[in-house]
Amino acid sequence: MRHRSSLALLFLLGAARSLPTPNDCAALASKIKLDFPFTVNFAQYVPSNTTIDPIAEGTNITCATGTPPAQPIPVAFCRVNLRVETSESSEIYMETWLPDNWKGRTLTAGNGGLAGCIPHADLANGASLGFASTGTNAGHNGTSAGAFYNQPEVVKDFAWRGVHTGTVVGKIVAKTYYGRDCGKSYYTGCSMGGRQGWEAVQNAPDLFDGVISGAPAINLYAHLSYFGYVLEPLGFNTSNISLDQWAAIQAAVLEQCDDLDGARDGMLEDPSACKFDFTELVCTNNSASTCLTAEQAKQAATLFAPLTYNGTLIHPGFPHGFEVSLISIMYSELIRTWLPEAFRYLIYSDISWDPTTFTLADALNAIQGNAGDLAAFDADISAFRDHGGKILHWHGLNDDFLSEEISTLYYTKVQTKLNSSVAELDEFYRYFRASGVAHCIGGPGAHLMGQWGQQVAGTDPDDNMLVRMVEWVEKGNAPEYVRGTNLEKRSARKHCKYPKVNHYKGTGDGSDEEGWECI
Ligand SMILES: *[C@@H]1O[C@H](CO)[C@@H](O)[C@H](O)[C@H]1NC(C)=O
Ligand SMILES: *[C@@H]1O[C@H](CO)[C@@H](O)[C@H](O)[C@H]1NC(C)=O
Ligand SMILES: *[C@@H]1O[C@H](CO)[C@@H](O)[C@H](O)[C@H]1NC(C)=O
Ligand SMILES: *[C@@H]1O[C@H](CO)[C@@H](O)[C@H](O)[C@H]1NC(C)=O
Ligand SMILES: *[C@@H]1O[C@H](CO)[C@@H](O)[C@H](O)[C@H]1NC(C)=O
Ligand SMILES: *[C@@H]1O[C@H](CO)[C@@H](O)[C@H](O)[C@H]1NC(C)=O
Ligand SMILES: *[C@@H]1O[C@H](CO)[C@@H](O)[C@H](O)[C@H]1NC(C)=O
Ligand SMILES: *[C@@H]1O[C@H](CO)[C@@H](O)[C@H](O)[C@H]1NC(C)=O
Repeated sequence: MRHRSSLALLFLLGAARSLPTPNDCAALASKIKLDFPFTVNFAQYVPSNTTIDPIAEGTNITCATGTPPAQPIPVAFCRVNLRVETSESSEIYMETWLPDNWKGRTLTAGNGGLAGCIPHADLANGASLGFASTGTNAGHNGTSAGAFYNQPEVVKDFAWRGVHTGTVVGKIVAKTYYGRDCGKSYYTGCSMGGRQGWEAVQNAPDLFDGVISGAPAINLYAHLSYFGYVLEPLGFNTSNISLDQWAAIQAAVLEQCDDLDGARDGMLEDPSACKFDFTELVCTNNSASTCLTAEQAKQAATLFAPLTYNGTLIHPGFPHGFEVSLISIMYSELIRTWLPEAFRYLIYSDISWDPTTFTLADALNAIQGNAGDLAAFDADISAFRDHGGKILHWHGLNDDFLSEEISTLYYTKVQTKLNSSVAELDEFYRYFRASGVAHCIGGPGAHLMGQWGQQVAGTDPDDNMLVRMVEWVEKGNAPEYVRGTNLEKRSARKHCKYPKVNHYKGTGDGSDEEGWECI
């Protein structure tokens, strides 16, 4: 009975609480107490339908997830911006967005690329869904790895401490503002943010109850050094296989493999079933002008084959089906910048390192040295399981930056390490492969899944990973599939839970959602 009346009292107190006001928000600045040195840069109430514009604010930091939300944010919130010291020689710059419509949950959004800015678009999405939402710059500004050069504490923030500290501070800020303990704690991130999510699962199993990890850079140095490896035979500056030839390769791949899943729709549901034979493209006397020399065929094939060096698997290779975009990423400015920067500033601490000297010994050094502990490839996630946490891991099958095959490899590593069946892993760890989806977002496939800022198709749990994650953690409604939407094509597809594969049973061109079945 006592229990019951105190519950009733709590309920009354809760009901009597009024919405926070702009003054409550401003007053928050002097109320926050932390165990480490910090500054509240500002605490400012933001009315609903405001657009946050870092350029107008004079904090124009260019970085992968740094573009401000394109749309106004539909809810009112208290925006807190802080500087928090993480060591004597490092600090994070962070924001926590505290919506009026708080549902009692917290969310941390990870970074993309090499981090270096606050992921505003993800905070906008989180706040819109009622999360007290936190993001950090992970300890440095901007997109250059130069920030890491001889700065081990800055690397530590990038590797894990930015997300950890930001999350802890975000929870304190939310509790101070709302006057109540925070409920469940969630994480969402893609690419480098996917790596940050896995890092927390592996090393800080109590930090989150639900983690969404998309297209993770989960074995960072394997991903990175693979670019060096393929650029060596292909030519570091310009591919000695022309774009026209790559287009012909992709066309031949699709010709051979597209209907293995039952639909000729330009997307492979199971690229691992596509055993493409490059010799069919080798020039004969009457070939097309896009035929390959025997040497070129050998070089092209290296992108898609597992790479082993001195008995160690370095990289499983890339899936087939999007050769043209893959090769344009290989030769993009970003890769040509990141590859040397990673070796110069993180791996060798040698600013004169020349990427054209890359050999597989460098790849092995990078992977085995694991500078700054940046890999998040430890398969023992039993502590997170035992804490009751849930993980939604997904990867686009057309990912042209980070090969999907590394995600599959990690899933099977976890299976082995935990000696678990798929059914046992399903209790807390589910992995989804999204056909036709490029790196984190975009591509010809059904790519809007609630994984990327305000670009969402809806708030139904089927359409929105974040909403689904809450359902899973709090009600046990686990995802059987992840439904993606492609607005341009006005179509949707249910992406299957690994190891299931989509198969087309319909009679159309594959654009009908109901024609597909996960088997
Ligand atoms: C925000 O904008 C939307 C769309 O213009 C509108 O429907 C809604 O009423 C606005 N909300 C507020 C609180 O102004
Ligand atoms: C990052 O940028 C913010 C906003 O301009 C600034 O307040 C902060 O001091 C910068 N941090 C570093 C480490 O340069
Ligand atoms: C913001 O940064 C971009 C990229 O560095 C630059 O082109 C642009 O001029 C900057 N805008 C302002 C207002 O500083
Ligand atoms: C391709 O380019 C690389 C680097 O320029 C070169 O070493 C290699 O010999 C070239 N291969 C062919 C077949 O042209
Ligand atoms: C490749 O490009 C880099 C600059 O991006 C240049 O320093 C180097 O000399 C070039 N190498 C060749 C073989 O053209
Ligand atoms: C190509 O043409 C040459 C000269 O006409 C001939 O000797 C050779 O056998 C032909 N090769 C093939 C593969 O048809
Ligand atoms: C290859 O592996 C052997 C045995 O682990 C080791 O002794 C050797 O140093 C390795 N070679 C290179 C180039 O890493
Ligand atoms: C792995 O699991 C199976 C089935 O539950 C069990 O029979 C086996 O003993 C386990 N192996 C190890 C090494 O724990």
